Amino acid sequence: MIRIRGMYFSGTKTTEKVVECIADRLYNELHSIESDLKRASSIDFTPPKARERTYRFDENDVIVFGVPVIAGRVPNVLLGFLDTLAGGGALAIPIVLYGNRNFDDALIELRNILSDKGFRPFAAGAFIGEHSFSRKLAAGRPDEKDLEIAGAFAAKAGQKLLQIVRGEIPYEGPVPVDGQEPIRPYYKPRDRQGNHINILKVKPKLDKSKCDGCGICVHVCPMGSIKPEEPGVVNGICIKCCGCEKLCPQGAMYFDDPGYLYHKEELELGYADRKEPNIFI
Ligand SMILES: Cc1cc2nc3c(=O)[nH]c(=O)nc-3n(C[C@H](O)[C@H](O)[C@H](O)COP(=O)(O)O)c2cc1C
Ligand code: SF4
Ligand code: SF4
Repeated sequence: MIRIRGMYFSGTKTTEKVVECIADRLYNELHSIESDLKRASSIDFTPPKARERTYRFDENDVIVFGVPVIAGRVPNVLLGFLDTLAGGGALAIPIVLYGNRNFDDALIELRNILSDKGFRPFAAGAFIGEHSFSRKLAAGRPDEKDLEIAGAFAAKAGQKLLQIVRGEIPYEGPVPVDGQEPIRPYYKPRDRQGNHINILKVKPKLDKSKCDGCGICVHVCPMGSIKPEEPGVVNGICIKCCGCEKLCPQGAMYFDDPGYLYHKEELELGYADRKEPNIFI
């Protein structure tokens, strides 16, 4: 029995798109060859409640595991949750989505975490998603071309997966990926003078004249930080995932912090050239 499952954290759904595409394609490639194969429902651990549960897997599971790149690394707010995972020998495909700047050490960090938690990461990929902060930088990605590459990657990974499952080749340890060890510190944006721009405390604001109180932002916030009765009030941690801003149907959420806006523009100007996915099998 092989169970293929996606598992992801995704503020603006670019990670979700790539993970689901790879999991679907893996299933479609393999189900005619391997009869005892299931496409199990995905685990979306974006909502805070989903991260209160413990997830245990075993050798029958194949997990396509995705997170966005934040400051060149795995989002640090997820580290506690990731530490609770029990891989149980499940085969895994670590996937990171980045906003066309760089994935730095995020993929190697995710691969190592999964391996430490008992998964067997045998293939991996870094894909590009529209930058959370912007509607210009990597706009609309992952696009058709990205999903084609994701599909071809899944087909190739599927062949390796079958060989491992059937004992034709051994699992030789975590798949080699780009990135450095020891893992480098979190990427820090800088202003024109080279000073560090600190956006840690920046939060979105609400244009009350546009808000119709639909509650979507409250529901999508991965930190559970938006006050249900008053979306203008963001209590607690904001990771600037921009889910509330991008998914608000009225365009009522916005950021006006000068440091944040400077960084966003600098990214749009400095990283306009299209990057392509990196895959590792
Ligand atoms: C706080 C923050 C930091 C980010 N840091 C990086 C980065 O270092 N490099 C990069 O290319 N993209 C970076 N991004 C962009 C996201 O990785 C990218 O847009 C990704 O597709 C978002 O995934 P999601 O739609 O699943 O949330 C950052 C986004 C946020 C919110
Ligand atoms: S999603 Fe937009 S319109 Fe809906 S409650 Fe939030 S801010 Fe208001
Ligand atoms: S409040 Fe912050 S963490 Fe919550 S959805 Fe908005 S940008 Fe993301």
